[in-house]
Amino acid sequence: MKMESTLVLLKPDAVRRKLCGEILSRFERKGFTLTALKLLRLTPAMAASHYQEHSGKPFYPALIDFITASPVVAMVLTGPDAIKLVRAMMGPTNPVAAPPGTIRGDYATVMSENIIHGSDSPASAQREIAIYFSEQELI
Ligand code: PPS
Repeated sequence: MKMESTLVLLKPDAVRRKLCGEILSRFERKGFTLTALKLLRLTPAMAASHYQEHSGKPFYPALIDFITASPVVAMVLTGPDAIKLVRAMMGPTNPVAAPPGTIRGDYATVMSENIIHGSDSPASAQREIAIYFSEQELI
């Protein structure tokens, strides 16, 4: 068993639709520990840093506009195999492919408003957590 921490963002559509409590509750019931949490509006610089690997892709401008448009909830979840397990609970990026029972399968219909982000590897988790939280903010 590997203890891991992962960065989860509840995107602007989740905050606008008042789904944050419901989604956080799923992660708590699964058994993850909440080790950092904040509501914030991403600056363009933060968004560019977070999504740097997608710069130049056709959807990149829309993604940056969307993610900076209104507040998000950022959190760090910690637990055994947290990175893989959180992504399994999220479901595939495209909600059309996301089975019922997953977060995107239950709450999203289109890729441009797909509710949630979760780190995809230990290296991404480490990099992404540092964008949102200082060492002192991690419990
Ligand atoms: S890729 O090219 O396969 O690596 O891209 P993908 O993993 O599918 O998506 C990378 C992130 O971009 C988001 N995305 C979009 N946002 C807005 N509009 C459109 N059309 C769009 N297509 C993809 C996608 O949700 C991924 O962000 P995260 O935050 O990881 O979900």
